[in-house]
Amino acid sequence: MSTLLYVRTSLYGAQGASSQLAERFIAEWRQRNPGGHVITRDLAADPAPHLTAERFQAFNTRPEDRTPEQQAVVEYSDALIDELRAADTVVLAVPMYNFGVPSTVRTYFDHIARAGVTFRYTSTGPEGLLAGRRAYVFVTRGGVYGGEHDTQAPYLRQFLRFIGIESEFVFAQGLAMGDESRQKSLAHAHEQISGLIAVELAA
Ligand SMILES: Cc1cc2nc3c(=O)[nH]c(=O)nc-3n(C[C@H](O)[C@H](O)[C@H](O)COP(=O)(O)O)c2cc1C
Repeated sequence: MSTLLYVRTSLYGAQGASSQLAERFIAEWRQRNPGGHVITRDLAADPAPHLTAERFQAFNTRPEDRTPEQQAVVEYSDALIDELRAADTVVLAVPMYNFGVPSTVRTYFDHIARAGVTFRYTSTGPEGLLAGRRAYVFVTRGGVYGGEHDTQAPYLRQFLRFIGIESEFVFAQGLAMGDESRQKSLAHAHEQISGLIAVELAA
């Protein structure tokens, strides 16, 4: 059975522009995968906690030596990773907040980047251990950013690659730059989604 993990991050939940773009793609995915299963992880509604020294120490403590508190910390992280492992398709809906990803995305990443679990270092460099999945990332922004000013998409791509997942991006930029800019940008994003659907979901 195909499984899609949907990571939603907008403060506006399903009303967010990023969520709406992602959810159009997911609706198409459902049509093409009638027996498929969608797991939704809403990071705005249910954020992962900040990593602390205690939490990080729990990850690095052998199972037999963990306190009950440390065990709970590891189980929380394991559950997030199990959702990723269960999925063959990962959809992330990510607005730009303050020139980067929402802070909830950072704390989520802190819980799913686990040495020996989702990545490892070899003599030739890092190796992602979640290969075999594909990610679709729906990015929305009030302004327009490209090249060196884009501190968001390269970060997301690099992080996902680090754990072994290649990604495709859909952008809707300039959403706060007036009605015309917003409509044009959303229309362009929908064209990108139609392209993705035609190429990636055709089977
Ligand atoms: C807290 C906050 C910070 C934002 N920071 C930026 C920013 O740095 N650059 C930008 O272009 N837009 C910024 N925006 C605008 C959002 O990126 C834009 O409204 C986007 O469409 C939000 O997507 P959403 O509707 O999925 O939440 C910010 C919005 C919020 C709420």
